[in-house]
Amino acid sequence: MPTVLITGCSSGIGRALADAFRDAGHEVWATARKPDDVEQLSAAGFTARQLDVNDGEALRRLADELEAQHGRLDMLINNAGYGAMGPLLDGGVEALRQQFETNVFAVVGVTRALFPLLRRARGLVVNIGSVSGVLVTPFAGAYCASKAAVHALSDALRLELAPFGIQVMEVQPGAIASQFASNAQRQAEEVLAADSAWWPLREHVQARARASQDRPTSAAEFAQGVLAAVGKSPAPAVVRLGNGSTALPLMARLLPTRLLDWALRKRFGLLRPL
Ligand SMILES: NC(=O)c1ccc[n+]([C@@H]2O[C@H](COP(=O)([O-])OP(=O)(O)OC[C@H]3O[C@@H](n4cnc5c(N)ncnc54)[C@H](OP(=O)(O)O)[C@@H]3O)[C@@H](O)[C@H]2O)c1
Repeated sequence: MPTVLITGCSSGIGRALADAFRDAGHEVWATARKPDDVEQLSAAGFTARQLDVNDGEALRRLADELEAQHGRLDMLINNAGYGAMGPLLDGGVEALRQQFETNVFAVVGVTRALFPLLRRARGLVVNIGSVSGVLVTPFAGAYCASKAAVHALSDALRLELAPFGIQVMEVQPGAIASQFASNAQRQAEEVLAADSAWWPLREHVQARARASQDRPTSAAEFAQGVLAAVGKSPAPAVVRLGNGSTALPLMARLLPTRLLDWALRKRFGLLRPL
């Protein structure tokens, strides 16, 4: 039975992936950072473990346990992440740093910790990126930058891990039904103080934070798409799944920058002077 470890399984995409891979006959090590979520995952029949992806000690313990139990790992899905929304200068360097800790640095940290196990299995690393890393929008600068970085890191890992027989697949979801937007809206509220220079545009900031739930593809359908992609040999380097995942990158590639800027400024209230 192939073993797959997934980060961020408390909700949304992570939970749907855990369900899909379990139903397809994998042994799923489903990780989450809150004890209640770990309990729920355990009750649902997963090998559930607590993991905050920024917690190096927990990561080492998990790697040791996997080593002792299986001595190998067939697949790692780096899914955990969140959207640091709001004007880039309001969030500042601290919000950007935190965003990169979870969405970017942890992808390398988790993969590094599990590399010996993946190497033994000649396994597969799946990194969940985003169309937001391809088409950058306002009021999501930190998030877009983090996902663009995930794409670049996936490219580097794909090349560097190839000699070990480890494949790397990058998934760029469009809009997928999950808790992402409610978490993002909370983030945006925290960042956008009443003295913010962008306060008059707070409705637009919130609209951006909600955008991932605009006619979303269900997480279960998305997970089936990932399952189908990992079943291909070789695994595709990049997979785009979900509403907007084809159209938005196409817009980014084909539209002249000035036209795209105008469209995005219009959509998010940034045409008039503040
Ligand atoms: N939904 C979309 O439209 C969409 C589109 C493109 C990309 N994505 C990406 O898909 C991935 C999953 O997001 P989602 O849409 O399923 O949103 P979600 O429902 O909010 O799930 C995010 C998951 O990441 C976990 N997480 C956040 N920080 C963590 C940390 N430090 N350590 C461990 N787990 C952590 C969350 O745990 P808690 O419950 O403890 O917070 C939760 O399990 C993210 O990387 C996101 O950027 C989503």
